[in-house]
Amino acid sequence: MTINPHGGKLINQFLPDYDIKNIKAEIECDNKSLADAECLANGAFSPLKGFMDEQDYKQVVSDMHLKNGVVWTLPVTLPVTAKAASCLSIGSKARLVKNGIIYGVIEIDDMYEPNKFYEAKHVFGTLDPKHPGVKMLFERPDIYIAGRVIMIKYPDKKDMNNYIMTPEKIRAEFTKRRWETVVGFQTRNPVHRAHEYIQKTALETVDGLLLQPLIGETKKDDIPANVRMRSYETLIEHYYPKNRVLLATFPAFMRYAGPREAVFHALVRKNYGCTHFIVGRDHAGVGGYYGTYDSQKIFKQFEPDELGITPLFFEHSYYCKKCHGMTSDKTCPHGDKEHIILSGTKVREMIKNGKRPPAEFSRSEVIDVLIDGMKS
Ligand code: ADX
Repeated sequence: MTINPHGGKLINQFLPDYDIKNIKAEIECDNKSLADAECLANGAFSPLKGFMDEQDYKQVVSDMHLKNGVVWTLPVTLPVTAKAASCLSIGSKARLVKNGIIYGVIEIDDMYEPNKFYEAKHVFGTLDPKHPGVKMLFERPDIYIAGRVIMIKYPDKKDMNNYIMTPEKIRAEFTKRRWETVVGFQTRNPVHRAHEYIQKTALETVDGLLLQPLIGETKKDDIPANVRMRSYETLIEHYYPKNRVLLATFPAFMRYAGPREAVFHALVRKNYGCTHFIVGRDHAGVGGYYGTYDSQKIFKQFEPDELGITPLFFEHSYYCKKCHGMTSDKTCPHGDKEHIILSGTKVREMIKNGKRPPAEFSRSEVIDVLIDGMKS
């Protein structure tokens, strides 16, 4: 028995034979819109069937629920320029294209101008244009087009194509492996010792781990997804029991919305069939915009059954030289100077300069892959 998808029904709107002959209008998509369209069509964003209409959008932004009462914490919208919008009309269809390739169709049922200041304030908790999510929001065009999305082709993931698995496929794989409880892990980074520690701690109490790195757009200084994928493969090969971990990609892009994105990440992993979801320190956070545990605290705002997936919260974890192992403030009595803690920025800087972060921070096989990947 697999867990119910969010809202009760797994959406599937990938219809490669869908007739697009008579659809003339076109919307030129960016990578983010295409990533969202893929998640809408493959069921990852169930119960959403398309980009949000104004009512859903407003309700999600202001109180984290869809108009039908289902929890949903992030807007999923298709922004186009006013000029592009003037060629579209409600009740018609438009092709979703990028660089001359047709990926799908939208059945337009609403068009509206959002209040981006209100959106930024509520979704990101800040109007600071330096926040990568806020920056992205204001850089994208100003009119939102809503409606059901049908995909006829998914964007090519090149050397990551082998790891594409729809929610339906992943659910079938869990059944095949007889995993009744599965913990999902979201990441936009290489898996370092702290990530490995919290994953394995969770794995002690459930049947399987879905290691599901996000491979859509991230900020420029994050490590590219294809390099990260090689690091995950290496890590699994050397340090994980293969029959208890499944590596698959999550096509979405990063919003850096901290707490709201943590809930969103959990709900989406429920659609992929996970029963549990890991939320560690500053999940989906960036800079100093959110408190270390804000992404955990937000879960208290919802009833467990309206989420339908169990979050597993973890303290900030690190290697302690005195304990000779991975620990956290919850389990280690020693002081800061015994702890090996490096910021993401520092680690990326070291790797770019060919320097090796200590083995207590990251497995040496992972560092090899990252150093190699950052050269090219
Ligand atoms: S995220 O933006 O995808 O959340 P990241 O890949 O860094 O970023 O984190 C993946 C998961 O691991 C998140 O749940 C995050 O909270 C958790 N995490 C990252 N580093 C640590 C750490 N040192 N201790 C505990 N949890 C951590």
